[in-house]
Amino acid sequence: MLRSLSTVIGAAALAAGITLTAGSAMADKAAPKLGFSIDDLRVERWARDRDYFIAAAKELGATVDVQSADANEQRQISQLENLISKGVDAIVIVPFNSRVLTNVVSEAKKAGIKVLSYDRLILNADVDAYISFDNERVGQIQAEGLVKLVPKGNYYLLGGAPTDNNAKLLRNGQLKVLQPLIDKGDIKVVGSQWVPEWSATEALKIAENALTANNNKIDAIVASNDGTAGGAIQALVAQGLAGKVAVSGQDCDLAAAQRVFSGTQSLTVYKPLKLIATEAAKLSVQLVRGEKPAYNTKLNNGLKDVDSLLLTPTPITKANLDLLVKDNFYTQAQIEGK
Ligand code: GAL
Repeated sequence: MLRSLSTVIGAAALAAGITLTAGSAMADKAAPKLGFSIDDLRVERWARDRDYFIAAAKELGATVDVQSADANEQRQISQLENLISKGVDAIVIVPFNSRVLTNVVSEAKKAGIKVLSYDRLILNADVDAYISFDNERVGQIQAEGLVKLVPKGNYYLLGGAPTDNNAKLLRNGQLKVLQPLIDKGDIKVVGSQWVPEWSATEALKIAENALTANNNKIDAIVASNDGTAGGAIQALVAQGLAGKVAVSGQDCDLAAAQRVFSGTQSLTVYKPLKLIATEAAKLSVQLVRGEKPAYNTKLNNGLKDVDSLLLTPTPITKANLDLLVKDNFYTQAQIEGK
């Protein structure tokens, strides 16, 4: 009904010489078509984001076309172009490379498609909105957890993917806590590396080299997520140091929750994925329907101040692992590896 009406309006506009963009003219507000372009579905958390997003979209009467770029920026751009030509009403993007989507986002906007940046901010692009957890706060939580355990000592900074804007925000948050202690001389940063594609294998190699270069004299590793923490901890296991060196993470990946339980990882950060996925589905449908979403801040992406909704992350140590069970993120048996 809506579609045929918009076709009529489109034809009338054409006759009158008015250009209507495809999305705004065609958007089916009752049953919006959403595209979900995800960096890498091979990473545990994104598969959960996808499932929760599809479920929430369905509740709202929307359908979802999911694409995974498998950490390949060219593939992501092609998949986005494909979604544009399929005529979706909104595209939700987890960018692999935050810096290369300016043109394709502008193509989407020209076609009247709403664009939502999901978890990672797309830089220098005309996105309509951004939803994430407060990534600086995540970084702060990581460093605070480590400093509590290791107030003085040698720290290694294991950053996230250099292509991911979150990696920088996390580092900002980590340094808010660490810098004063570095300046005081309590903490010495003995090395620092960004991990390409957040790869656990790369993190393992980096940690092995860092341990060798420092004669194993590292007291804490500021790992920026659970995948890379896993790589670092594997290097520690090989040196008989697992559980002796403090290691952070984030995401509450199952393996990480198990490591926190067994004591080889000091902390992780809980970001309820059901919440972000549900809010993102709601937000994209609101954008399509021309309703006003409830934002709580703005973040500059180099081109504009982007309307943003930042959700609150929670620190998880062995002491409050039960929160994950209460929240139905895992069962106790899963955490205990049974
Ligand atoms: C970040 C995200 C993290 C983590 C990482 C690797 O951008 O905020 O939750 O999953 O990517 O995919």
